[in-house]
Amino acid sequence: MFVLEARELTKHFGGLKALEAVSFKVKEGAIHSIIGPNGAGKTTLFNCLTGVTRPTRGSIHFSGQEISRLQPHEVAELGIARTFQNIRLFPEMTVMENVMVAQHTRTKYGLLSAVLRGSSFMSKERAVREKGFEYLELMGLEDHAEALAGNLPYGSQRRLEIARALATEPKIILLDEPTAGMNPMETLEVMDLIRKVKGLGKTVILIEHDMKLVMGISEWILVLDHGVGIAEGSPEEVRNDPLVIEAYLGRETTH
Ligand SMILES: Nc1ncnc2c1ncn2[C@@H]1O[C@H](COP(=O)(O)OP(=O)(O)OP(=O)(O)O)[C@@H](O)[C@H]1O
Ligand SMILES: [Mg+2]
Repeated sequence: MFVLEARELTKHFGGLKALEAVSFKVKEGAIHSIIGPNGAGKTTLFNCLTGVTRPTRGSIHFSGQEISRLQPHEVAELGIARTFQNIRLFPEMTVMENVMVAQHTRTKYGLLSAVLRGSSFMSKERAVREKGFEYLELMGLEDHAEALAGNLPYGSQRRLEIARALATEPKIILLDEPTAGMNPMETLEVMDLIRKVKGLGKTVILIEHDMKLVMGISEWILVLDHGVGIAEGSPEEVRNDPLVIEAYLGRETTH
């Protein structure tokens, strides 16, 4: 079943066409990737999906509801979470506090509130903490719960961003280049973590530069170039698409 659908999504910044009539469907519980060269419109697409940017034209339906005119917090409350290309943590807060702040998005609305209402013997704070610890464990950060987020090594900060996004209990999680700046070993670890996130039943949309990296993990890939969706489909379909080879791989090898 499709959980998200963008139709003719368009974003112009003055004369610049950051996105031009991009349409796609997102399948529930699957890993999707959006790839393309620098400036292709990948982050702009995430910004439109999360209410950060208002599209010039087009629509976005999430679970049947049109969301393209909603505010970021409204989109988050509906169940779409994201990470940013540039890390956005609270560096002066602990790792655990960073996750607990994110959980707040859900405490009023979601599953967590059901847990909290039923807990007569357990303080709310403790319940939130225990749930937060689960997200940290999932991302391999449980030993650093009391460390200041700003003191974590770079790769761990990136994983904390994913933990924070998960803590909002989203249906869909959008990851904007989660492996940016990582070494090959850290990158493979993050790919495994993304599989774990899918294992939780989440729908994943991943932005990546590196086509080879997403081939093994994605069920569906959208290729953007200069704001236009030039190809989409299974990794095999995309890999063999002449437009992709020319516009994306060809250019990459000339660097
Ligand atoms: N707020 C903005 N105002 C004006 N132009 C913008 C704005 N945001 C993005 N752009 C432009 O839109 C185009 C697409 O940018 P975007 O950040 O979406 O690309 P990207 O695919 O994420 O690139 P990268 O791989 O470098 O992250 C670029 O030409 C960029 O300069
Ligand atoms: Mg980007």
